[in-house]
Amino acid sequence: MTRTVYVNGEYLPETEAKVSIFDRGFLMADAVYEVTSVLDGKLIDFEGHAVRLKRSLDELDMAEPCTKEELLDIHRKLVELNGIDEGLVYLQVSRGSDGDRDFVFPSADTPPTLVLFTQNKPGLADNPAAKKGAKIISIEDIRWGRRDIKTVQLLYPSIGKMMAKKAGCDDAWLVEDGFVTEGTSNNAYFVKAGKIVTRPLSNNILHGITRKAVMRLAKEAQMEVEERLFTIDEAKAADEAFTTSASAFVMPVVEIDGVALGDGTPGPIARRLREIYIDEARKTAI
Ligand code: PDD
Repeated sequence: MTRTVYVNGEYLPETEAKVSIFDRGFLMADAVYEVTSVLDGKLIDFEGHAVRLKRSLDELDMAEPCTKEELLDIHRKLVELNGIDEGLVYLQVSRGSDGDRDFVFPSADTPPTLVLFTQNKPGLADNPAAKKGAKIISIEDIRWGRRDIKTVQLLYPSIGKMMAKKAGCDDAWLVEDGFVTEGTSNNAYFVKAGKIVTRPLSNNILHGITRKAVMRLAKEAQMEVEERLFTIDEAKAADEAFTTSASAFVMPVVEIDGVALGDGTPGPIARRLREIYIDEARKTAI
């Protein structure tokens, strides 16, 4: 099926959608993005993604392409036009183009480029990968210093995923100055003696929308949560571990650098949090 996508005010078949070759998203990775999940044809945590998008744009002095209400309409229309029951909506805003390549930003009245498309993912909630759990490797974090801004500079995270794949694993956790920052496309946690540990928010990690929800739900379920720096060795010695992201919700981690966690199957806290999160997401979806 040909998808209908959105480009700068138009809904078009994906084969007809075009962006300039001079677009700064293409030439300079001068663009930010959001990924919002869809369950039962409804958007999960749209408000959180819209607020973070605005923050990313503000941090880069990039213009807002439209209002939050218009963004919501575009998301909903694409979900409907493409018949998405479970899946994702990808949104990207770039600084646009003034018709040439230049390191200097184009004038402030250059319109940003807004692109959205859907990804159909049946089985997003009842994901077999979550029942198996993920095997991860650790690699050095060599990304730039503003990971709190959700830019499309994803080459290193892609390389990290490829390194994991080559090692027969599913994903990589990134380590900087001896401490885990986050996963290639998710936030990272371990559990020891019932306590959930994750890195505190800073410019060094993305402020995950799923992270925020899961931390709140964990506390509401009387689980103990500690935000502090942690090493990969601590995670390897943990009872269980997991990641959070809009695209995989709560994903149990069962192996780190070849070391099995607990009995090598998804741990009870990760499984419970996945359940609670998906339940709550379905209830609050719009
Ligand atoms: N990735 N950390 C990084 C580096 C990420 O790329 C992501 C999301 C997260 C989790 O954030 P959230 O819970 O808001 O999805 C953390 C998205 C899903 C992606 O790039 O596809």
